[in-house]
Amino acid sequence: MSNISKETSLDGQVALVTGGGAGIGRGISVALAAHGAKVVIAEIDPARAAQTQEIIESSGGEAVAAITDVMDTDQIRSAVELAESKYGGLDILINNAGGVAGKNFIDQSERSWRRHIDINLVSMLAATHAGAHLMIKGGRGGSIVNITSIEGSRAAPKYAVYSACKAGMINFTRTMALELAEYGIRVNCLAPDITRTPGMHGMMSGPVDEEELKRAQGIPVKSIQSYVPLGREGDTKDLGNAAVFLCSNMASYITGAIIPVDGGTWASAGWTRTPDNSGWRLQY
Ligand SMILES: NC(=O)c1ccc[n+]([C@@H]2O[C@H](COP(=O)([O-])OP(=O)(O)OC[C@H]3O[C@@H](n4cnc5c(N)ncnc54)[C@H](O)[C@@H]3O)[C@@H](O)[C@H]2O)c1
Repeated sequence: MSNISKETSLDGQVALVTGGGAGIGRGISVALAAHGAKVVIAEIDPARAAQTQEIIESSGGEAVAAITDVMDTDQIRSAVELAESKYGGLDILINNAGGVAGKNFIDQSERSWRRHIDINLVSMLAATHAGAHLMIKGGRGGSIVNITSIEGSRAAPKYAVYSACKAGMINFTRTMALELAEYGIRVNCLAPDITRTPGMHGMMSGPVDEEELKRAQGIPVKSIQSYVPLGREGDTKDLGNAAVFLCSNMASYITGAIIPVDGGTWASAGWTRTPDNSGWRLQY
């Protein structure tokens, strides 16, 4: 930890990351721990939670697994209680676990809408409610980071309920930024687009083979270069770095912000690189 500057140090802080066993949640858990935070990995899959814990501990960090299904609000409250009983409080909450299944809305069942709302929205409400109470009790402020999506700010055919939930996360973030400001709790969003994760490659459970994930056939490189201004897919480390920034002293004046971590795709909004790479064109 010696090369971590004082401004980005999270030494002594306690973090809880939902869905911390893989993908973006793992990237954020590992980054927070590398900057000194003790991490509660609130994750449904025990093998994945154990893997993230092992990665953190083998680098000298501290973490505990809380096997949690975020669809069950009692389990979320238990994970928050573990932060208090094991580490004495909570400074950082990352609402990351989410889920999506692609279907046109008129073909989607009510059961499916409700599951989308439970996993993407209700989970954030329950974790924020319990987490903010614990932060307030600790009296040392805190940082809440909600992982929304570019789909929270644009139309998303086949993902109507998911994108409505992600839009809801954005506005909940803004309101919480105001309601929790007096307690020194900052609330922000990170909005990823295409980030290479197990979920993006259909690996939904069990230990993650990072090498297999690197090799997985994703969107063709040419398409990525055309669609993403920075010309590459997102890496979970990109989200980890952004989360460390938002939770650190460097972001002490930032609250209610929605930060795209997307290589520029929110800004490009329909503009793509020409096939000969000579410039940009509007796709229509
Ligand atoms: N990967 C992307 O390109 C991308 C883009 C935009 C937004 N996001 C958002 O980022 C977040 C993480 O996505 P990801 O791609 O890393 O997903 P992922 O599927 O790769 O990883 C999600 C993790 O959450 C766990 N999980 C799943 N259901 C859970 C539950 N009910 N309770 C607790 N844990 C559960 C999984 O076991 C897994 O470890 C999601 O909210 C997603 O909507 C991702």
